[in-house]
Amino acid sequence: MKHDPQDFHQRLEAHDDQSINPSANPPLATLIDPTRRNLLKGGLGLAALGLFGGSLAACSKASASPLLNFTSVPLQFDPQFDQVLVPPGYRAVPFFSWGDAVEPGAPDWHPDASDDWPAQLKQAGDNHDGMNFFPFEGEEDRGLLVMNHEYVNPPLHPSGVIDQSRPRPLDEVRKEQAAHGVSVIEVRKGSDGQWHRVMDSPYNRRISMLTPMRLAGPLAGLEMMKTASDPAGLTVLGTLNNCATGVTPWGTFLTCEENWHNYFINRDPADYQQRVSHKRYGLASTGTSKNYAWETADPRFDATPYADQPHGGHVNEPHRFGWVVEIDPFDPGAQPIKRTAFGRFSRECAALALGEDGRMAFYSGDDARGEYVYKFVPSGRFDAANPRANRDLLDAGTLYAARFDADGSGQWLALVHGHNGLSAEHGFASQAEVLLNARAAADRAGATPMDRPEWAAVHPRTREVYVALTNNDGRGDKQPTDAANPRPHNLHGQILRFNEQGGDPTATTFTWELFLLAGEARGARTAEGGPVPANLTGTIDGDVFSSPDGLAFDAAGRLWIQTDYDDEEAPMQGMGCNMMLCADPATREVRRFMVGPRGCEITGLAWSPDGKAMWANIQHPTLSYPASDGHSRPRSTTVLVTRIDGGVIGS
Ligand code: FEO
Ligand code: CA
Ligand code: CA
Ligand code: CA
Repeated sequence: MKHDPQDFHQRLEAHDDQSINPSANPPLATLIDPTRRNLLKGGLGLAALGLFGGSLAACSKASASPLLNFTSVPLQFDPQFDQVLVPPGYRAVPFFSWGDAVEPGAPDWHPDASDDWPAQLKQAGDNHDGMNFFPFEGEEDRGLLVMNHEYVNPPLHPSGVIDQSRPRPLDEVRKEQAAHGVSVIEVRKGSDGQWHRVMDSPYNRRISMLTPMRLAGPLAGLEMMKTASDPAGLTVLGTLNNCATGVTPWGTFLTCEENWHNYFINRDPADYQQRVSHKRYGLASTGTSKNYAWETADPRFDATPYADQPHGGHVNEPHRFGWVVEIDPFDPGAQPIKRTAFGRFSRECAALALGEDGRMAFYSGDDARGEYVYKFVPSGRFDAANPRANRDLLDAGTLYAARFDADGSGQWLALVHGHNGLSAEHGFASQAEVLLNARAAADRAGATPMDRPEWAAVHPRTREVYVALTNNDGRGDKQPTDAANPRPHNLHGQILRFNEQGGDPTATTFTWELFLLAGEARGARTAEGGPVPANLTGTIDGDVFSSPDGLAFDAAGRLWIQTDYDDEEAPMQGMGCNMMLCADPATREVRRFMVGPRGCEITGLAWSPDGKAMWANIQHPTLSYPASDGHSRPRSTTVLVTRIDGGVIGS
């Protein structure tokens, strides 16, 4: 396959919505009845655009919410739209783009993409994604911004093409590997009141697919983790497809490996069929690996078993991805650590809930059609008085998968060997097998298949957990609907929220409800004048959107929602360019705060400690963003958002 820049991100999105869950876990067939009132305001040019009428609601009604105090940004339908729009009184400026210098000695980025891979190793990676701000202790105006670089786009190369139809040139593969991973950059508020990068900071660091990392936790050093190039099973080169994030109470960054299966291939059909750790995750078995065909230049991505090689060659290399990777941004010399106690799947995020007694949970989605919501509960407690005691807290604990029952209650199903059917007779010889094949373990335990679980976010005071279920164009064919996933052919997604029993992050039961169904306004009409079908109608009180993905709470308890859909594909094109919105959890009002350039997804969100600066990522724009000259390469870019009067964002 040949991929040009225009079709590339659509192809990748299609990969993370494949359904490979073979289980018959029963979703419960109770349809919710959306009764929430929706705003519907008229729009322009609906018929001409062939769009749904409700989509153009550009409302700026008087606020019912004490939390949301900004004017709604209208939807954008211009096919050439190449800006970031924020409300009146705000500004958004490009802050950190693919190719910007990070490490000492990084050359200036060249607009013809002629930088080689050693240069890329020191420059910002591609496809900025999840992001967090880590303040220096006692310093409000200085911090480290740490962000993921999820994957790469073809404009990474001068040709603008990644050609998988022939063996890949090694120097291209190395550049792609160098552009994956994480950036750490120091930022500081200047005497001008604006935030700037500190270009010569000793904390500035790139982590990539070529950075050695330590394997830790229950699987470290086991046979299932050994490869021809790492016979000890303790050291992995790199992290990839880093999507969303988490932070620990002790101030480290958690980066989550999402669609790692797209980088591997197992060409042995008989082996593939019986190897759950490959097949249940959707590795390629014919042709090339789905992303980039690295195996044609770098043998460790060929996961076919070879009996004549130590440890079967690289058959276990895919076992070394799909983890949570802990990075201490304040220790630039420290190796990142892959924490295997978290279990292995296409991990979207690791959102922390910290109880008053120091016990905690990390919530994760597994973003594929019909996959599960998980939480990991460390065995130990956070000890604020003794920071060193927290260092390896993530190496022991319990992984759970969620079952959402129709009556609004829910169960956390422990993925523990010897419980919930996780025994040798069902293919789980040990707890290591359970963690390695967490998807299959959750199948067996009876978790509820969900409409592509993306980010989770935890309310800063109530610890209420919100999960974005982005969409699912397969539900209705293979899986019946259920209370938590109520729409067949669900193209717009929903946000679900739940409360742990007693507010305890370690509880094994919870109550849940749908916070909203995304989609067209109720009562909206199609271009032909008919009613919008029920599967495309939402329950949003306020501004419409599709396909929630990124979720984050600010310190005041506003829920920020970021969208990810193909803005040229029906019916999402009826929503225009991708956007970021803000919701009041109490009133459920939703208001649109940002619209991004054509082709982009908006993802990743961080704030300065005073809430007066916000960073958000514009991922894979297709026009020449952030330059608007029509010639420059589009570049994934972090934008800095501030209020012109210097106030708190959103307030
Ligand atoms: Fe990287 Fe599921 O988003
Ligand atoms: Ca995402
Ligand atoms: Ca997504
Ligand atoms: Ca993405």
